[in-house]
Amino acid sequence: MPLREYYEFYSPGKTIYGANIASEVAQEAEQLGGTTAMIITDKGVLDAGLVEDVKNGIEKSSVELVEVYSDVPVNSEVEVCSEIAEIGKEKNVDILVSIGGGSVIDTAKGANILLGVGGDLLEDWQGTNLIPQPLKKHIAIPTTAGTGAEASLGAVIKHSPTNQKISFNSPYLIPDVAILDPSMTISMPPSLTAATGIDALTHAIESFSSLEHAVHSDALSFYAVKLIYENLPMAFENGENIEARANMLIASNLAGSAISTTLSIGACHAMAHAVGGLTTVSHGVANAIILPAVMEFNIDYCSDRYAELAFAVGIETSGMSQADAARAFLEKIKDFIWSFGLPKTLKEAGVDPSLAEEMADAAMGDAQIYGNPREADYELILELFRSLLK
Ligand SMILES: [Fe+2]
Repeated sequence: MPLREYYEFYSPGKTIYGANIASEVAQEAEQLGGTTAMIITDKGVLDAGLVEDVKNGIEKSSVELVEVYSDVPVNSEVEVCSEIAEIGKEKNVDILVSIGGGSVIDTAKGANILLGVGGDLLEDWQGTNLIPQPLKKHIAIPTTAGTGAEASLGAVIKHSPTNQKISFNSPYLIPDVAILDPSMTISMPPSLTAATGIDALTHAIESFSSLEHAVHSDALSFYAVKLIYENLPMAFENGENIEARANMLIASNLAGSAISTTLSIGACHAMAHAVGGLTTVSHGVANAIILPAVMEFNIDYCSDRYAELAFAVGIETSGMSQADAARAFLEKIKDFIWSFGLPKTLKEAGVDPSLAEEMADAAMGDAQIYGNPREADYELILELFRSLLK
């Protein structure tokens, strides 16, 4: 694939890495000039005891903690963003601290749009580069290693009345500080570790093979694939393995940063968003099911990209043709994804086959589809969905 003529690369404001450093959020909040903070999280994170240290840290600082909102649902919702923004306005919040997975961090981003510029999420800000000014300060502390939402300029939020996943992209959505503390991810059970890890892998592979890929995103994606391939099995087998957890968290962050450059990464994410809007299948599981099928669909159109990624998963490609190296990579990725015991088809995941047309429609309307290396029309995407619903 040729170099892009023009691209923009955004580096997150500040990324801090270290085990057991989540409570350092207080210093960061002070340095950002925050005075009135609100924590945004979900029940699972709260019950796992992951909020306590952060809360205690803030309470010892000059920043006043005025609210702990812990009702973010599994899929971020437009309605919830409005509810959080209302609380934030009422209590004059000037700094948001999100603690959780992609849904929590994206919900905080959505709420921050409303807090920072007001208006209506759907009517005014859906799309790319529409937000006109910096928002309230935001510190993100991921508790999963998957979405990379703490590094990305995007947010995907569900609009329940239409069952759609709505995308927002703006450099102002990149959190000011991302705290990567692997101890915050240790309580993830193996199935969630696998599903979120495969989401990160999908970001990296799709970003690398996207029509919108760029040298900066390639560097991040390539190393993310390597780290995930080497570390996800260890994090899955032994959740207490702090080194594997750390490498997964960093890989997810790198891939999150990569997709901020590519923006439109491919058909797998378009299809996974459609599945997420219309069913209860989680984003990570949807990617794990769809990625092998989409890679098979794309392989003849991006064999150079897959062949290059073969190095990242330890394939010795010298003497191999490009097509053979790409095939070897695809087969290795299939085996890798299927080694975690996640469902292999949408049917196995309990998706109703009668949703195929609606899902294909939604995928074709998703901005992620444009970056796919092979042009995909409605019929081709419908065929892919049908193959996964058999
Ligand atoms: Fe994703």
